[in-house]
Amino acid sequence: MSDQLDDFLKELQGQIYEETLRDYGQKAFDRWIDPPCMYTMENPDANGRITGSCGDTMDIFLKFKEGTVSEASFTTDGCGPSMICGSLAAELAIGNDPEELKKITAETILEVIGGLPEEDQHCASLAANTLQMALFRYLDQEASGR
Ligand code: FES
Repeated sequence: MSDQLDDFLKELQGQIYEETLRDYGQKAFDRWIDPPCMYTMENPDANGRITGSCGDTMDIFLKFKEGTVSEASFTTDGCGPSMICGSLAAELAIGNDPEELKKITAETILEVIGGLPEEDQHCASLAANTLQMALFRYLDQEASGR
């Protein structure tokens, strides 16, 4: 790659980072660059998978130990905000029991992240709904003794 093209791409990337940080804030920016908890979990106790109305799919995986979430992760083929929100949903799940997990909504995620632009708010709903599906499956399995 020529030095000129290399410089151009670096400058472009710098601009994108700057705009994202300005529009989304530090917490969201950090998760967009390097989302914690983004991996497919081997042998989860439960997982949820939802395809949102935008066409993007999210998976959330949960592992429990003594009634609380010991490990949570997510994957998505979606947009940057879906990575931010999926990461946040998994992070918020860790260390909590089912009753606390039930309280994690799209509003919770948006509040913790400090808000998202209007057009990205449905990404928080996708993350929260996927988490709730994983929780529902876990509780269903527990109830039926599987
Ligand atoms: Fe589909 Fe963000 S646009 S989850």
